[in-house]
Parts: sequence; structure tokens; C-alpha cells
Amino acid sequence: MDFNLSEEHEAVREAARDFAQNQLLPSVIERDNDQKFDIALTREMAQLGFMGMMVSPEYGGGGMDTLAYAIAIEEISKIDASAGVIMSVNNSLVCWGLEEYGSEEQKQKYLTRLAAGDIIGAFCLSEPEAGSDATSQHTTAIDHGDYYLLNGTKNWITSGNSSSVCLVIAQTNPELRHKGINAFIVEKGWEGFSVGKKEDKMGIRASDTHTLMFSDVQVPKENRIAEDGFGFKFAMSTLNGGRIGIAAQALGIAAGAFELSLKYSKERKTFGKPISEHQAIQFKLSEMAMKIEAARLLVYKAARMKDEGKDYIKAAAMAKLYASDVAMWVTTEAVQVHGGYGYVKEYHVERMMRDAKITQIYEGTSEIQKLVIARELLK
Ligand code: CAA
Repeated sequence: MDFNLSEEHEAVREAARDFAQNQLLPSVIERDNDQKFDIALTREMAQLGFMGMMVSPEYGGGGMDTLAYAIAIEEISKIDASAGVIMSVNNSLVCWGLEEYGSEEQKQKYLTRLAAGDIIGAFCLSEPEAGSDATSQHTTAIDHGDYYLLNGTKNWITSGNSSSVCLVIAQTNPELRHKGINAFIVEKGWEGFSVGKKEDKMGIRASDTHTLMFSDVQVPKENRIAEDGFGFKFAMSTLNGGRIGIAAQALGIAAGAFELSLKYSKERKTFGKPISEHQAIQFKLSEMAMKIEAARLLVYKAARMKDEGKDYIKAAAMAKLYASDVAMWVTTEAVQVHGGYGYVKEYHVERMMRDAKITQIYEGTSEIQKLVIARELLK
């Protein structure tokens, strides 16, 4: 097995690191504090190609592989996990879903602009009563011939306010359960589509998370993705790849907290020597580094499997499950290594600890990942 990265992958890492250090880092504390989604920074991220990395150049994307994408999210999330999730949703859930399953017309109309970062996309599956239980969609899309009439509410939508285009999952025929679900491309500004309250979140506070409401929204038939009844499969297979993005985000958060802890341990002195010379700290640093390395192997393996066209469902769920647990553990230890300084905003690790928590929840909780893994093991 070749563990070396290509020159192209190293170049992507370098570009993402530069962007994170120079553009994201200076305002990361302020944006977290103020819950500020920064459109200018998102546009810069798009200009560097980070919003449509895997999309084929034919549709204006970077034509890169999943591994390059995971590396970029890792580097960006080391500094700013909010930017990581904005990137992840646009790349994995919106662009990938459209390129894989959309019609040529849909790709020309929407994907080209999403890949270039001219517009941002959102993925709307979760509802007040359908988070983990994704088949229980209460949002309905009733067939009226030329159009579907969309009614319902979606919750916790990343880029809910800043997005221009939303991929909305809705129930078309409740009797058919998951086989009666469809996915639609819905534009902001269409009559009956409104943006509801912004969530005041524990972490990833510089991404805008909103409730979205649909009241008799007419969705043209040509905006349904793929064949009738494919919506649940669309959501599930899109989330399979999305989990690699979130796993990479979790890996980045952990690696970022570790780098800060390593640096701090060499600078901070107690009992007459740097704390890095105390075994208690050395034990922590060793375990943090080992767990991060193991998480990285799982994340890169899942990405490589997807790139090689292999069945990566189990690998992606394992990577997401493990990397998110590592992110939570490492960031908690990072606060401990920093002591009192770790508990204040200036030293970044308290934000990282808050940001880490969501990686165990979204795109399927840790418990859901275990179900996905078990399903694959037992089938
Ligand atoms: N990949 C592909 N297909 C899948 C699949 C997967 N991972 N999981 C299920 N399916 C298919 C099954 O094969 C089945 O198809 P057939 O009928 O043709 O056999 C169909 O879907 C139904 O399968 P199940 O009966 O197993 O479905 P279920 O109701 O028991 O649910 C679940 C399965 C795995 C729990 C699923 O509901 C799930 O993944 N839930 C979590 C949803 C989630 O991740 N939500 C996150 C919201 S998006 C988000 O967080 C974005 C953000 O803001 C960052």
C-alpha cells in the first residue's frame, strides 16, 4: 500500500493551508463570536477552486479526486471548521449529487454556477421530526402535472440563508414510504419559499444554519432529480460521500488542536521547565498524535476507495465515526494541556472543542454511523 501523497495532493494541501493561515485565521475568533457568515471569504475560497473541487472541468469544476478534497477540508478545518462545513456541503452534498444524478440541463443551469462558487448550495433533508429517521419526511411535494407543489419545513440547514439553490428532499407518495420520496432543485426567491430563524449554535458559528419554509412552492417538473421515487436513494448515496467530507473536517479540527497544543507545551513553563518535559503532557501528546494518525488513515482510505470506484459506504461511515470521536477527545485534551488559557477564546482550542461536537451529530450521528456499518457488515 502506497502511503505517499502525490505532488498534486501536496500542492492542494499547501494552497489550502495558505488560504487558512492568511485569510481565515485573522478573523476566526471574531466570526465565531459574532456568528458571522462571511460572504467575501467564501467567495475567495471559491476563487481558489475550493467550492467545486471534484466537479468535472466540463462544468467549471476543479476535476480533482476525493483525496485532494479531503486534504483541503482537513487543512481549512485546522483553522476554521465553519469554513470546512460550508465547503463540505457545497462540494459533497450539492455539487456531487447534481453531477452524479442531475440531468444535463440541470447541470448546465445550476452545477456550473455552484462549482464556480458564483452561488452557494444547500442540502435540505432534516426536518423537525426527521433527523436520523430520514424516511419520515413530512415535507410533501404533490404532483400537479407540470409542477410539484412543495409544502413543509426543513431544519438545521447549513448555508440556509446564504444559499441560492437548495436540494430539497420531500415525500411525494407517503404510501410508498422511502420509495415515494423525491429530490428537487428549488431556487430562493420562488414564491412561498422563506428563510426562517437562524440557529444560535454551540459551534461552527460562522456558518449560517437556518430553518427553511415552503408554502405552496411550485417546483417545475424538470427540477426533480432523477427518476420518480429516487429521492431517498439520492439522499443516502450523497450522504455516503458527504461523510468523507465531515470526517476530513473532524480530522482537521483534531490536527489543528494538536498543533496548537504541541507548540504551547514547548513555550509554557511550570515547575522550572517547559510543560512538554513533563511526562503527564508527553503522554497526552503521544496519544493525540497516534489517534489523529489513525483517523487520517481511515479518512484517506475512504477517499481513495471512492476514487477507485469501490464500495466505500462502510469505509466512509467508519472514517466519520472514528474521526469525529477523535476530534472530540483531542480537543478536550487540548484544552487540558492549555490549562486556564485553554478555557478562553484567545487560544482557539475552546472553539475547536465546541466545533468538534457537531461532527458527532451531523450527516448522521455516531449511532447512525454504527447502523450503517452494521448494515454493510451483515448484508
Ligand atoms: N447508501 C445507499 N443506499 C442506502 C443507504 C446508504 N448508506 N442506506 C439505506 N439505503 C437504501 C437501502 O438500500 C434501501 O433501499 P431498497 O429499498 O432499494 O433496498 C433504502 O435506502 C431504505 O433503507 P433502510 O430500510 O435501511 O432505511 P431506514 O429507514 O432504516 O434508514 C438510515 C436507514 C441509515 C438510518 C438512514 O435513514 C440514515 O442514514 N439516516 C441519517 C440521515 C442523515 O445523515 N441526516 C443528516 C442530514 S444532512 C446534514 O447533516 C447536512 C449538514 O448540515 C452538514
